[in-house]
Amino acid sequence: MATQAPSKTKKEATKGLTSTKGAGEPQTNSAVNIQPILNQQVQAPNPTQRFGTVSQRLPIGLDDHVRLESVQMLNQLLADTISLRDLYKKHHWQVVGPTFYQLHLLFDKHYEEQSELVDTIAERIQILGGVAVAMAFDVAEITSIPRPPRDREEAPVQISRLLEAHQIILKNCHEYAKKADESGDDGTNDLVVSQVMRTNELQVWFVSEHVVESPLTKAE
Ligand SMILES: [Fe+2]
Repeated sequence: MATQAPSKTKKEATKGLTSTKGAGEPQTNSAVNIQPILNQQVQAPNPTQRFGTVSQRLPIGLDDHVRLESVQMLNQLLADTISLRDLYKKHHWQVVGPTFYQLHLLFDKHYEEQSELVDTIAERIQILGGVAVAMAFDVAEITSIPRPPRDREEAPVQISRLLEAHQIILKNCHEYAKKADESGDDGTNDLVVSQVMRTNELQVWFVSEHVVESPLTKAE
């Protein structure tokens, strides 16, 4: 019986093609196209999902109208949390004065904790079949946190801005937790209470104590 020579694998075939050229000659390879296809965003097809809709149905036991209501609440919470997160970073960079070191570190710690909340809220929105708001352009349009100036401000003013933002988020948390509870979205209720509310309340405590007038070296 005649034996057949084994056919070349794709890798071997490619190797053979590219190695036939001498050093210094341009390497051509008509068999494999390894060029990236760029600028596909220019004439992009329709998006896979529109913002403001809940179209993907993961089997999580929640009706469309429940998921839609939760997604709308969570996107507001997300935009406000992104704003508060960034407010902490702004103040982390710009803080000045005798409490610089402790506030510089505290603001960054709270920034990191708010960053974790941002990710948790956004992923909950996706789990519910919605689309999480993401970019600063869109966050700026949605957030209810007042826009701070670009300028550098005194530490007590920074702290007041942070506490105002926390308060806005916490008031929404109470309302959203109640609505999620009533609609049967226990996962969203738990996230809002156990993570967003608890984290914000604790941060309010740590930040608030810095604007209490208290003697520094001698009891009054
Ligand atoms: Fe830093």
